[in-house]
Parts: sequence; C-alpha cells; structure tokens
Amino acid sequence: MIRVDFNVPLNEALEITDDTRMTATLPTLRKVLGDEGSVILMSHLGRPKDGPTDKFSLKHLVSHLSQLLEGKEVLFADDCIGATATTLASSLQPGSVLLLENLRFYKEEEKGDAAFAEKLSKLGDIYVNDAFGTAHRAHASTAVIADYFASENKMFGLLMEGEVRSAEKVMHASEKPFTAIIGGAKVSDKILIIENLLDRATDIIIGGGMAYTFWKAQGKVIGNSLCEDDRLELANEILAKAKAKGVHIHLPMDSTIADKFAADAQTTNCESYGIPSGWMGLDIGEKAIADFKEVILKSKTILWNGPMGVFEMEKFQNGTKSIALAVAEATKKGAFSLVGGGDSVAAVNMFGLSEQVSYVSTGGGAMLEYFEGKTLPGIAAISGK
Ligand code: 3PG
Ligand code: MG
Repeated sequence: MIRVDFNVPLNEALEITDDTRMTATLPTLRKVLGDEGSVILMSHLGRPKDGPTDKFSLKHLVSHLSQLLEGKEVLFADDCIGATATTLASSLQPGSVLLLENLRFYKEEEKGDAAFAEKLSKLGDIYVNDAFGTAHRAHASTAVIADYFASENKMFGLLMEGEVRSAEKVMHASEKPFTAIIGGAKVSDKILIIENLLDRATDIIIGGGMAYTFWKAQGKVIGNSLCEDDRLELANEILAKAKAKGVHIHLPMDSTIADKFAADAQTTNCESYGIPSGWMGLDIGEKAIADFKEVILKSKTILWNGPMGVFEMEKFQNGTKSIALAVAEATKKGAFSLVGGGDSVAAVNMFGLSEQVSYVSTGGGAMLEYFEGKTLPGIAAISGK
C-alpha cells in the first residue's frame, strides 16, 4: 500500500494541468512493480467536504497514470474501503496496480480515525509512505495507519526518502554560508520559518510583497505597496533578533514599481524605501538583484521558498528569474540548493531551471512546516522523529 500525494491540479474539464506529483512517485512504483510486488495506491484529491463528489474523484487520474506506467492497466476501486476494495486488493497479481478512490470521501481520514486506518491497513501487507506533500497532516492514511504494520513492514518510498534527505541536509548539516531566500506576499505566512531560520542561516534574503512590511516597519514610505500593518512590530522584532544573532537580513534596496496591479501597468524603478503614493512595488529592482546575487553566489547551502515579485506577469518577472538563475549558478559552483513551495517551484519550472538546482520539493505546506521546525506526522510515523 503506497500513500501517494496525487493531489494534482485539475482544470474545468477535469484534466490534469500539472502532473509533477504523479511523475515524482514513478521511481517507487517502478521499484515495487519491478520486484514483482503488487501496488495499491491511496491518495486524497482536493478538500471534499460532503463525501463522494465527482470532481474530486481519483478516477480522473486513472488513464494518465496508466500512460505514465507505459500503458500498464490501472485498476480502480470506487471506494477506498469496503467489499470492492477488499476483493480487488486480495486478487491483485504481482506487477499490477490498483488505485483507491479519494480517501477524503471519508471524514475519518482527516480526523485520523483509528478504525478507518485499520480497515485501510488490512488491504495490504506493506505500508509505504511516499506522500511528502501531505506529510504535515496527521491523517489516517499518512500517520495513524503505520500503527498497524510491524516496523519491518513500513517504510518511506523513494520520493519521501529523497525529500527528507534534502530537507535534513539543509536543516542540519548545512555547509555555511547558508542563505535562505524567502519571498511571497505576506510576512504572516513566513514568520515561523524565518524565526526558525534565524538559528540556522547565515543570510536571509527577503523579497516579494512581504519586503514592504519590513521597510514600513522602519518608518519608510512604501506608497501603495502591499503591507500588513498589524505585523510592523513583528517585522522589527525579526530584524532585532537577526541582529542579535548575527544573521544578515537582506531587503531589496530598489523595486520595479507600477501604477496599478496589472500586466499593462506603467512601470519604473525606485528605491524600495521611498515609493511615491499611487505606486506599488511589484518586483525587486536591479540594485536588489545585484545585492542578492552576490550573497547567493557566496553560499554553500541555499533554501528558496517564495517568489521575489509578481512573476506571473512578464513585467515583474525579472527579479524572480534573476534569482533563479543565480541559484542555478551557485549550484553549478557546488552549492546545495533546495527549492520548495508552490510558487517558487512554478517559477523554476517556468524558467526551465528545475534541472539546474539540487532538489525541487513536491511539498508546499509540508516543506514550510518542516523548516518551521515542526515534526511532520507523516515522517514521524515511520522514522519515529
Ligand atoms: C497540499 O497540496 O497541500 C497537500 O496535498 C495537502 O493537502 P491539504 O492542504 O488539503 O491538506
Ligand atoms: Mg495545502
């Protein structure tokens, strides 16, 4: 039984728009199938609230999964527990694949219900957790189920193993200088990760919308840029703590500013700490890029979570693209670079640089929580830590 995270985005026509999380599990599936094991796959998809819902059915993934497995037949059980699942699972032949219906069609899944976990556990002989993207959830299939398998019969899959290895490498054994690049819109989303990194990183680069809260906290004028006014004090506390711990925090000295939040906005460049009213910073500027690049190129360990600007719009992608290129260059020079979090991963993919960084994580929330210093239930259930 392999718990995977097949929580992939589907469009209106219920077609998969990004299959990264599926392809990432193929090494594990091929390993088990190649060794004549039979595979039972279980996953959630979306956040169904009221039981079975067509748009959240994993049946929409069957044909693509079959294609990814060179046309191998993929059996489907339209209920993850019960008679059909039991019959299909018990008659499964070596080298065959069975996909179970969405686990979250049962509210017991998210509740971490023991009886439900036990029912799932009865379907297979070995439990493999390969769902790093869901490792921060203490759900029946990600954590509780492990209690029903002897220690020699439960393990990480190859994806999970790779994720944990790279995350640990950055978190614990990091070669210095260790630079964390933290971006995104809101400081509030990234407080815990920044606080934890203050004890580990030598440098923290802050970009994206959240940078303006840090400037305003220092009494600067940021025009109409994004700002969380209720986090100004906190931003100053972070700056003070960093200073006390000897961690260098780098803020973008200049920005590409725009007269509106739109792809066709008028743009110009100005200092991030003196943005005129009516204008907003939507990307880091050339001076910031040069400063950040210098820090990145000196680094031996790099963690990147969150974009530097509104990279989805062409006029504001230069910052994120330049930082992605700098991370790739540092990696080429021997640094270990880990990129995680939906937006930064999308950016690295968009610029065609995913092969030029050391590791691209499939975890968004999971990766964030890991670097906040939390214990991830999906990891702890197997490794005990
Ligand atoms: C995710 O995409 O964040 C994971 O698949 C977990 O899903 P969740 O956030 O709905 O628990
Ligand atoms: Mg999530």
